[in-house]
Amino acid sequence: MPLTQKNLLGMRGLSREGILAIFMAADENRRLLDTDHKKKDTLKGKTLLNVFYENSTRTRISFELAGKCLGATVVNMTAPSSSVQKGENLVDTAKNLDAMAADVMVIRHHSSGVPHILSRHLKAAVVNAGDGMHEHPTQALLDMYTILKEKGGFDGLRVAILGDIEHSRVARSNLLGLSTMGARVVIAAPATLLPRDIHKMGCEVTCDMKAAVREADVVMTLRIQHERQNVGLFPSVNEYAQQFGLGSELLSYAKPDALVMHPGPINRGVELMSEVADGVQSVILEQVTNGVAIRMGVLELLCGVR
Ligand code: CP
Repeated sequence: MPLTQKNLLGMRGLSREGILAIFMAADENRRLLDTDHKKKDTLKGKTLLNVFYENSTRTRISFELAGKCLGATVVNMTAPSSSVQKGENLVDTAKNLDAMAADVMVIRHHSSGVPHILSRHLKAAVVNAGDGMHEHPTQALLDMYTILKEKGGFDGLRVAILGDIEHSRVARSNLLGLSTMGARVVIAAPATLLPRDIHKMGCEVTCDMKAAVREADVVMTLRIQHERQNVGLFPSVNEYAQQFGLGSELLSYAKPDALVMHPGPINRGVELMSEVADGVQSVILEQVTNGVAIRMGVLELLCGVR
């Protein structure tokens, strides 16, 4: 099944068929990752550039591994060690990288919309690896793939997304993707961390964490993004942890087999307590492994090798 688009800029506009095509590609790649020879050559001769203007561990390394496992030439650029520091502007930097015959450019930037803008200037396919507070499509895809593998489907599943929704590109991408696939999403946060129009995205919205978690099949917690907050949106980290953090008492309101998820990095003891992060219901590290398989699938589909 092909992906009928040049770029992956967001979950908005990605059809159910497109999502399923990525999951099918990820299935084969996940099996490869479980072997002793994690290598094939479907992207042999292709060049992948990872262009990161913002810090990353999981996304950057997993795209690098994905490209290498597929046989591509992979090069990483981080803004602090580049000529961005000499004043080169964003479009010039991207066009110069494009001129090196890149086939795919994976772009993370602190400003919403940057991958979309650059995609209009580049011959390479563009993958959004997280743009500001907007979208992080491959994170949503790996989250949804993990849910699919653990729960067998999405129809009627109740997914609670808790925490700093206002600043979360992960929440937006998951909400769009999970709704497309038929899950029921409930969003819960302190009022100051809820985007004003979030209910228009077709989800239930509450400030009551217990009500959100009650009978949930999946409980996804999100990191408090201190770096995107310039005013105090809650009284203190301790107070946030007590009232809104996911510990075993709050988790007991969910279904007994509910999955615990987090995109990482975790603020342990703030939005997620260690007893839950490391508990039997946690699939957080499974999300990370699936992230490599999903990104391999995305790269193959965008390069037209499936
Ligand atoms: N989940 C995620 O995007 O993590 P990184 O910031 O480490 O890439």
